[in-house]
Amino acid sequence: MKIDRDRIQAHRGASGLFPENTLLAFRAAQKAGVASIETDLSLLADGALAIFHDAALGRTVAGSTAISELKTDEMARLDAGSWRGAAHAGAPVPLMRDILDWQETTDLAFNWEMKIHGDEQERAAAALAGHLTGRDLTRSLVSSFDAGFLNEIMSIFPALPRALICDELPADWERIGRDLDLTAFHLHHVVVTGALVQAVHDAGYMVRVYTVNEQADMTRMIETGVDVIITDYPERWL
Ligand code: G3P
Ligand code: MG
Repeated sequence: MKIDRDRIQAHRGASGLFPENTLLAFRAAQKAGVASIETDLSLLADGALAIFHDAALGRTVAGSTAISELKTDEMARLDAGSWRGAAHAGAPVPLMRDILDWQETTDLAFNWEMKIHGDEQERAAAALAGHLTGRDLTRSLVSSFDAGFLNEIMSIFPALPRALICDELPADWERIGRDLDLTAFHLHHVVVTGALVQAVHDAGYMVRVYTVNEQADMTRMIETGVDVIITDYPERWL
């Protein structure tokens, strides 16, 4: 099955075959031919943003420290590749600023998913605004499960397109969409139907779905008319 590159977004990079949220995974996604990459941001103790999914070390990186307690120089020493095999050993946890520089050498768009691990909504919004000021916003959007964070970033950096992530569409989604002046809803694919996509489109929002890795799910999502499909395996569809 071959799908238009604009509809395929690599989840944490090409994370099915490469260590998630590393430059290795981002380069592999680029090579696969995607138009865009979804990646996770976590706020560090010193106000930098790291490309990291979890609240603490342990799953992809050895250790158990909370991400909010780490500083940039400590992050730079960590190995986010070994857990996916010796061939990837030493792959660093990237900083957002380095990936922004790399993005400028490509034609890729980024879906920056802000992870809120505690009560850092305000500080995370300030950090994101700081990182994106002066950058080309036509190839960036911010998404989050955390509506409070989206409200903060809307207040201080309204030009950045915003999307709410939800496992399923909340009953009051139209109010939320208006209040947060969203451009899109990012939904878990299992809850998405053609009728739901039609309703969200009619209200003026895009629909992106995560995380679609199986052929049957991909076929169903294409049929519903969703705009973008987020997948761990971009190379399967392009
Ligand atoms: O952005 C969509 C998706 O990535 C949200 O869930 O846990 O994979 O970050 P998660
Ligand atoms: Mg994510």
